[in-house]
Amino acid sequence: MAFHKIGILSIGEMGFHWAKLLKGQGVEVLTYDKDRGEVSRKRGENAGVKSLPSMSRLVKEAELIVSIVVPFAANRVASKVAKAVGKTGRKELLYLDANAISPMTADAIAAVLNPAGVSFVDGCIIGSAARMGKGTIVYVSGPQAQRMQALEAFGIPIRVLGPDTSQASAFKVVYAGLTKGLQGLFVELLMGARRFGLLNEVRAQYEESFPGLLDKISTSIVGLRIHAARRAEEMDELKRTFNHHGMKSFMAPAAQKVLEAIAALGAGEASDSGARQGDLLETLEMLYEKGLLRTAAAEKTS
Ligand SMILES: NC(=O)c1ccc[n+]([C@@H]2O[C@H](COP(=O)([O-])OP(=O)(O)OC[C@H]3O[C@@H](n4cnc5c(N)ncnc54)[C@H](OP(=O)(O)O)[C@@H]3O)[C@@H](O)[C@H]2O)c1
Repeated sequence: MAFHKIGILSIGEMGFHWAKLLKGQGVEVLTYDKDRGEVSRKRGENAGVKSLPSMSRLVKEAELIVSIVVPFAANRVASKVAKAVGKTGRKELLYLDANAISPMTADAIAAVLNPAGVSFVDGCIIGSAARMGKGTIVYVSGPQAQRMQALEAFGIPIRVLGPDTSQASAFKVVYAGLTKGLQGLFVELLMGARRFGLLNEVRAQYEESFPGLLDKISTSIVGLRIHAARRAEEMDELKRTFNHHGMKSFMAPAAQKVLEAIAALGAGEASDSGARQGDLLETLEMLYEKGLLRTAAAEKTS
């Protein structure tokens, strides 16, 4: 079934690019943003999203609600939707959680939505917000996952992983471990290279040994200016997922620490046009100047 009205919670960086793509394809995009910050509300306006006065109106009007929020809010958003569905008696609402959450959180969300009669699809987004409609892929799982294939008509590639509720989340945490792990590793090593006065030489040798690798990660490193805290949370989800399944994780906590150290610097602000600022070298220089990874002893002498 084709979708005509899609609700997005919320219009952050990724939500903005979903909204723009869907609007461009003639879909009416709805949101409830009364409890959101100024930047998200402005982004919604810029993308032509219709802001509804209540969550009840949103669940009544939308055929599908896509949750694209910070991972720790995913469960809360699902609870609000379930409550509104209970209040309005809305039937057959489809709900796609597209957040980087752990499989345990996906199961918890299913336990909130299914009793309310909402069809829950677990999902995850692979690729950047800016590449929505240009290659960014959505993986989905769960009994109703096939229904998401209707989004392909709007230029969103959908890959169905299977019928289990939390498969897409498990897929994402493992995938995210590579991308965020590489971001943390590169930042740490390049801070060292900068300290030793060898930044250009080290970058050149990385390029010779691993052509294109640092280039591919550069945009994500620039994105750490505003997304480091969320990405650190994703590494926590990865560690908890391994632990839940009786496995230890050493790499995820290490990446988490670097990302948390970047987040603590307050290095950048989201823009209401959804655009990112700066390039790799500027970002590294700014992180270095702000004292990223500097020891307490070095702080005293600087
Ligand atoms: N950005 C990317 O390139 C990218 C790539 C792949 C996957 N993703 C996934 O997409 C999701 C969103 O990422 P993002 O980059 O768009 O993050 P973001 O720019 O930080 O946006 C997060 C959005 O969630 C809203 N939010 C926060 N708490 C909420 C709550 N309790 N209820 C409702 N909305 C709430 C924020 O509103 P406020 O303005 O009020 O804070 C903001 O609109 C994440 O799960 C991420 O893993 C993003």
